[in-house]
Amino acid sequence: MATERKSILVTGGAGFIGANFIHHLFEQLNFKGKVINLDCLTYASNVENLKSIEEKYSGSRYFFEKVSINDAERALEICNRHAVDTIVHFAAESHVDRSILGPAAFVETNIVGTFQLLEVGRKLHKENSDFVFYHVSTDEVYGSLGPTGSFTEETPYDPRSPYSASKASSDHLVRASFHTYGLPVLISNCSNNYGPYQHLEKLIPHMITKMLSGQKLPVYGDGKNIRDWLYVGDHCEAIWTILTKGQVGETYNVGGDCEITNIDLVRRLCEKVAKFTETPAQKFLDLIEFVPDRPGHDRRYSIDFSKISSQLGWKPKHSFEEGIEKTLRWYLDQSNWSRTQSGEEYQRWVASNYGKRGG
Ligand code: NAD
Ligand code: TYD
Repeated sequence: MATERKSILVTGGAGFIGANFIHHLFEQLNFKGKVINLDCLTYASNVENLKSIEEKYSGSRYFFEKVSINDAERALEICNRHAVDTIVHFAAESHVDRSILGPAAFVETNIVGTFQLLEVGRKLHKENSDFVFYHVSTDEVYGSLGPTGSFTEETPYDPRSPYSASKASSDHLVRASFHTYGLPVLISNCSNNYGPYQHLEKLIPHMITKMLSGQKLPVYGDGKNIRDWLYVGDHCEAIWTILTKGQVGETYNVGGDCEITNIDLVRRLCEKVAKFTETPAQKFLDLIEFVPDRPGHDRRYSIDFSKISSQLGWKPKHSFEEGIEKTLRWYLDQSNWSRTQSGEEYQRWVASNYGKRGG
């Protein structure tokens, strides 16, 4: 897609990947257009994530709107006001454990919200033929793998949690908008991300913060579930590559070529945190505790990203070693950040919903 993007609406920009993407636009890509961050600020958001961007660009090239994607009328008015030519859609309920306990919010945001935003997109496309709708999705829509094989773009959808079912549903609505209405869409399905600004409920920051406060490290089931990890900066780069070079109507898988069992990951994190804090690793390893498994816990994810790699020339730049060291350094430098990030709210939620599981 050769068209230059001038005004990008980022939904969910106060969350983990959305915030990283906005930083990436301004700091890595030197993006000269406008960025409008539309986020209704759920528990998962943190406005601190964009403080430095606010300070530098607010009112000139960066605009924040506290609005829900479910409010199509306001979203359309904002898009018209800023002559938005691109929507990059991150906003979602994103945590599998929460989707098991409270699936309704996932249906409302991920399915109905995406539908509402597509309706906005259709109106914008009527006025501007260069408009494009980029939908950020997950590899979890493909289901769970056995010991061999990888998900390709042709793998049939087989979502197994309320989260992945709601994301699968949104992917279908996005694709349907392309085929039925000719809305120019792009979709990427990415593996597990890690890096700065990730909510403490997700595995890597969850374990880091628990290690630092001497709490038990809860590993679900036998710890042998496998995830494919990608440094968030590499994901942001993939999104930009697809947005600028991808073929409209196509889907691209994005992965890290980095499959690790959960227990190995937690052990490696213990070693790293020990090195960074000059503490004996055994002190952290002794905190590992196997807890009851997540219901319907997907066993293994593995991504074949040869399409984006061969067609668009993207591949991850960070090895796990490099990515995790950057991440750790960031979390160790940001002790104030975790406190502003609803950490206490999360601990209360875990305590009331999971009893012992949260540790
Ligand atoms: P996150 O939970 O950290 O952030 C989600 C953001 O969306 C929050 O700022 C929240 O306030 C906002 N939001 C939620 N509902 C909203 C609504 N109705 N209107 C406006 N804003 C709303 O999520 P994340 O981990 O950054 O994930 C972003 C996207 O990437 C999601 O669509 C997710 O499915 C997808 N994804 C995530 C991963 C991962 O490893 N985190 C991997 C692949 C794909
Ligand atoms: P998570 O970060 O929730 O991502 P997802 O479920 O979307 O893959 O979890 C990653 C893996 O880590 C998953 O297999 C569940 C497991 N896990 C634990 O074992 N303990 C924990 O405390 C958490 C949060 C996750």
